[in-house]
Amino acid sequence: FPPNLQMEDGSALRRVDCRAKGGAPGFKVAILGAAGGIGQPLAMLMKINPLVSVLHLYDVVNAPGVTADISHMDTGAVVRGFLGQPQLESALTGIDLVIIPAGVPRKPGMTRDDLFNINAGIVRTLCEGIAKACPKAIVNLISNPVNSTVPIAAEVFKKAGTYDPKRLLGVTMLDVVRANTFVAEVLGLDPREVDVPVVGGHAGVTILPLLSQVKPPCSFTKEETEYLTNRIQNGGTEVVEAKAGAGSATLSMAYAAVKFADACLRGLRGDAGVVECAFVASEVTELPFFATKVRLGRNGADEIYQLGPLNEYERVGLEKAKRELAASIQKGVSFIKK
Ligand code: NAD
Ligand code: LMR
Repeated sequence: FPPNLQMEDGSALRRVDCRAKGGAPGFKVAILGAAGGIGQPLAMLMKINPLVSVLHLYDVVNAPGVTADISHMDTGAVVRGFLGQPQLESALTGIDLVIIPAGVPRKPGMTRDDLFNINAGIVRTLCEGIAKACPKAIVNLISNPVNSTVPIAAEVFKKAGTYDPKRLLGVTMLDVVRANTFVAEVLGLDPREVDVPVVGGHAGVTILPLLSQVKPPCSFTKEETEYLTNRIQNGGTEVVEAKAGAGSATLSMAYAAVKFADACLRGLRGDAGVVECAFVASEVTELPFFATKVRLGRNGADEIYQLGPLNEYERVGLEKAKRELAASIQKGVSFIKK
């Protein structure tokens, strides 16, 4: 594995595996759930990322096919595939950054919390593998419901004695990507020029865009504020309904996941001023986890920023968000503690 780099008798075709032997600088990244709707485009985009020297693709199905396909791309990263639970430890050994999009997606009519029963167990198993094989890795958790799966991961790591809150990040980047897009549409700007902080969590009313803090500075009417808040909070459902039973956001999510993973890798490299929103262990509110802007550094979320001034509309939204978040966090914690 990968099959195209080995003779049938097991001897290597490469004279010197200079890249895998540390010839090229870069980080080792694993994607768990790499054969899925998010996993495949995410793997392709990470194979293009110049900060990645080794890319491990793990799934319980189809990992060999996806790995063979992606390994033919003439970019720097060496790709290796891993199939099924017995290969999880090898997939994770030596890894700097683990990205987890494993788990089932929503169908129309479902909430993200309806995925809990299946995805909670998947995330637990994968995090047990991380605790064993790469306890110092940065973890980007995408699997829903993020508001519960991040607390689950934290409890698994606590149990294993490996928990470092800075290294566990729930990925809420898609909310920011959507917010930038929708706000830019309303303002008539290029989305690349727009920065919307989105705080709270990653489900319905817990997704709280802070439109009063948009950059470049601007103001919105009451109607614009309500339209934008509602569209950002329901962006995931908009895609689920449009896909009509064929899953949820995969392409925009892969884009958002790579944007976030790239920020984590730049932080790991020691770049200054890398700031993105993420759902992390936090003291910004009374809740143990909360999404805010964080500064990404050599240890993961090295600094967590305060919410900043909120307007009345956002203060009301914050109270609603906290009520739902508290229950989702507790549900995740209890899943491991019970
Ligand atoms: P998918 O069904 O297309 O792919 C999921 C992949 O996970 C499959 O390849 C499956 O084989 C794999 N898998 C299942 N159990 C596994 C295990 N134990 N170990 C490793 N891999 C396993 O789903 P998708 O569309 O890629 O979505 C994946 C998850 O991401 C869903 O839970 C979805 O709700 C979530 N999601 C989160 C965000 C976000 O913003 N955080 C955005 C979109 C989707
Ligand atoms: C999203 O926001 O697109 C994801 O959380 C997937 C979903 O179920 O909406």
